[in-house]
Amino acid sequence: MSESFDLIVIGAGPGGYVCAIRAAQLGMKVACVEKRDTLGGTCLNVGCIPSKALLQSSEHYEEALHKFADHGIKVENVGFDLSRMMARKGEVVGANVKGVEFLFKKNKVTWLKGTGSIVKAGVVAVDGTEYQTKNIVIASGSESIPLKGVEVDEKQIVTSTGALELEKVPGHMVVIGGGVIGLELGSVYKRLGAEVTVVEFLDRLVPSMDNEVGKQFERILGKQGMKFKLKTKVTGATKSADGVELTLEPAAGGAAETLKADVVLLAIGRRPYVEALGLDKAGVALDERGRVKTDAHYATNVPGIYAIGDVIVGAMLAHKAEDEGVAVAEMLAGQKPHINYNAIPSVVYTWPEVAAVGETEEQLKARGIAYKVGKFPFTANGRARAMGDTDGFVKILSDKATDAVLGCHILGPDAGTLIAELALAMEFGASAEDVARTCHAHPSLNEAVKEAALAVDGRALHI
Ligand code: FAD
Ligand code: NAI
Repeated sequence: MSESFDLIVIGAGPGGYVCAIRAAQLGMKVACVEKRDTLGGTCLNVGCIPSKALLQSSEHYEEALHKFADHGIKVENVGFDLSRMMARKGEVVGANVKGVEFLFKKNKVTWLKGTGSIVKAGVVAVDGTEYQTKNIVIASGSESIPLKGVEVDEKQIVTSTGALELEKVPGHMVVIGGGVIGLELGSVYKRLGAEVTVVEFLDRLVPSMDNEVGKQFERILGKQGMKFKLKTKVTGATKSADGVELTLEPAAGGAAETLKADVVLLAIGRRPYVEALGLDKAGVALDERGRVKTDAHYATNVPGIYAIGDVIVGAMLAHKAEDEGVAVAEMLAGQKPHINYNAIPSVVYTWPEVAAVGETEEQLKARGIAYKVGKFPFTANGRARAMGDTDGFVKILSDKATDAVLGCHILGPDAGTLIAELALAMEFGASAEDVARTCHAHPSLNEAVKEAALAVDGRALHI
């Protein structure tokens, strides 16, 4: 038996690496097992960070092509170099993953390189070497959900991982799944000149989104040239040298049709990843959807084994995983942390962005909660006009009786940054009136948030 630890975390994604750092800060002797060559998990290596790097580059190109002229800026022969764009993305990822390695060293977290499996409570094996530990945290993340008949080769039929590495812009990209990955990466290639068709099983995009926001979002993406085939399912794919032929059918059944693509992006969701962890042997129970089953304190059914992040129930978001990482570390140190799951923001990083926190109107209606609505469009916000980005609106939902903020939905420029104010408001139990009475700098996009809060009681000033 080799070295022993207070805590071994399996997986160095945002859940695992943050958990390891926090536990080390609290005085524990910590190791983190990661089988990838670099730390940071899905998010830093093949998720959040590289996708945002490509979204940023393609957005700059789009602006130079279509928006600069309106600002009186003349640029001729605008073009792009995809290999440079990809190289830059690699540099961004490299700096981030190296940053985590530095943080591990700084906090004296040992990186056990290799595949970790749980021998039993208190023992983790990494490629055959066993380590003893008081506690184990599983943070093994998630993987793309496959689709029968649509075989991924990461060249012609890709998951998000392959889509982040394409060597040339496809003539026609078909995206299966109108969710977050499909719309973000679809936007990247649309901006770079691909024709993009999104095939979605349901009758709307990003089904979890507030309906009103979702409808306007779909219209805006449509105006940008993205095509949608809603209520449609893909039943098969045939590859040849000149592309992929997909067979589609109406979701409710009916006549089949075919659709040709140069590249197909399969993005129909992600599922928990538990391969090689030896959960069976260790007796760790999974739920009906293959997630590691935990109680409200992230404890599995086996004492001393905990789980966090994408591998357990809840939104598959990096910041949710991070907060759980901190919470479980603090709990192991005897503290009493708490996460308010209702105040976790979600963002789609298209342009305009879409951001949400709390409940949608549909959810409030379903729960029979009486609510008030305040809305404010970016067309009436001075800063948005100055930027030339007036698409979208802010919508705040508050409790009819108490005025407590119950949800906020923003479609518009920098929505992902604006939503933080409302997440904070909800965390502090603020009312719409509290937000409305807070002084907001002028001219800023945040004023649209204040105006929406004023609009909850019908007293917006600029509309
Ligand atoms: P992961 O990040 O998946 O990390 C798990 C790690 O565990 C992996 O590195 C894996 O190699 C390792 N591992 C697994 N099993 C073992 C084992 N047995 N031994 C050793 N190592 C093991 N979320 C956001 O909040 N914002 C975004 O903008 C965003 N963009 C995304 C874009 C894309 C294209 C994708 C795919 C995802 C995106 N996400 C985003 C989701 C985000 O990446 C995940 O929610 C987050 O990474 C989950 O963190 P985690 O720590 O639970 O797992
Ligand atoms: P998703 O769950 O967001 O969307 C999947 C979509 O595919 C849904 O609209 C669903 O109805 C549809 N679908 C399911 N089966 C289908 C089928 N057979 N045919 C056609 N459509 C089908 O999943 P996605 O986009 O793969 O992303 C996975 C997760 O990664 C997200 O849920 C999110 O948690 C995370 N992520 C977060 C990002 C962010 O925070 N900005 C960015 C990218 C990913």
